[in-house]
Amino acid sequence: MNSSETPPLSTYTGWSARLADTMYEAVTAQDAGLGRIAAELIRHGGKRLRPQLLFLSASLGEADEGLLLHAAAAIELLHVGSLMHDDVMDGAATRRGAPSVNSRWGNAYAATTGTHVLACAMAELTHLPHDAVSAVTEGAFALSSGQLRETEHAYDTELAIDEHLEIIRMKTATLFALPCRLGAELAGGDPRLVDALSRFGQQLGIAFQLTDDLLDLVGDPADLGKPTGTDMRAGVFSHSVLLALRRNPGGRLAALLRHKNLTVHEAAEAAALVRMGGTVGTTRELAHTHAARAAAALAELPDFPGREALATITRSVVSRTR
Ligand code: IPE
Ligand code: IPE
Ligand code: MG
Ligand code: MG
Repeated sequence: MNSSETPPLSTYTGWSARLADTMYEAVTAQDAGLGRIAAELIRHGGKRLRPQLLFLSASLGEADEGLLLHAAAAIELLHVGSLMHDDVMDGAATRRGAPSVNSRWGNAYAATTGTHVLACAMAELTHLPHDAVSAVTEGAFALSSGQLRETEHAYDTELAIDEHLEIIRMKTATLFALPCRLGAELAGGDPRLVDALSRFGQQLGIAFQLTDDLLDLVGDPADLGKPTGTDMRAGVFSHSVLLALRRNPGGRLAALLRHKNLTVHEAAEAAALVRMGGTVGTTRELAHTHAARAAAALAELPDFPGREALATITRSVVSRTR
């Protein structure tokens, strides 16, 4: 989020500290060693966007705050576990403004801790009603299938834009739609309203990932707290890159990207070629289109306490620098 437009957390005030306690308890309950490594990444915080979405969506009705905390912890732990695995896959050196778990402890510890964190997310689910458990499980399957499809298309300079957008929907938008749906459901929301909030979350998630991919090309690693240029070096070609390749399939960019193991210098050259090619603006427009669709889904809902904060998040997701 931009610091100029920080959304209010929720009508459920004070959840942030209680969520952190719930997550620390979850990760340290079974294994103190793995818990200590996991707790470091949790301590660095991140934006806590998915829990915010859950608590704000729950303000649609009335929910048991204990249940919301367990649901928020399950989703945030699923997110944190997937970040640990993602950093191993990308060889990323930093995360949340600190050395990544893989760079500090090595890949084997990072992968094992990621799996531990996913197990802790499962333990949180035991507190939730059956429908909520099914929703989180479906989300976890979509996330892993999305990550797998991305991996299958690594270094694919001809990846179709539609397939790329479907991967984004699966790997990222799922974890945005899920807290919106779950918050509204746990608060007893009418199915029509739950559906509108799910669609809101999904469109927001697509806008978020398109922006994240732009930040990998044009962002500042110090602001982001994670490295830039990682996607291209890992063979993960984002929307702007795919458009640039399509415009000039026989050009220097295509020649560079066909080679694995780009040097830092070559990756910087490839990123500069994309930035100069004019496709970054097209991707930004697409992110705004999805944010506008999210806003339209939100506008279908009657006024409720968290609605304005959700609208603020929607605007800040596409203008964010971190
Ligand atoms: C990072 O998500 C992973 C993506 C889906 C791009 P966030 O940017 O929400 O990560 P944290 O939780 O704030 O660290
Ligand atoms: C990862 O996307 C999304 C996940 C499902 C973990 P990114 O690879 O863009 O996330 P960052 O940029 O490393 O945070
Ligand atoms: Mg990554
Ligand atoms: Mg990224």
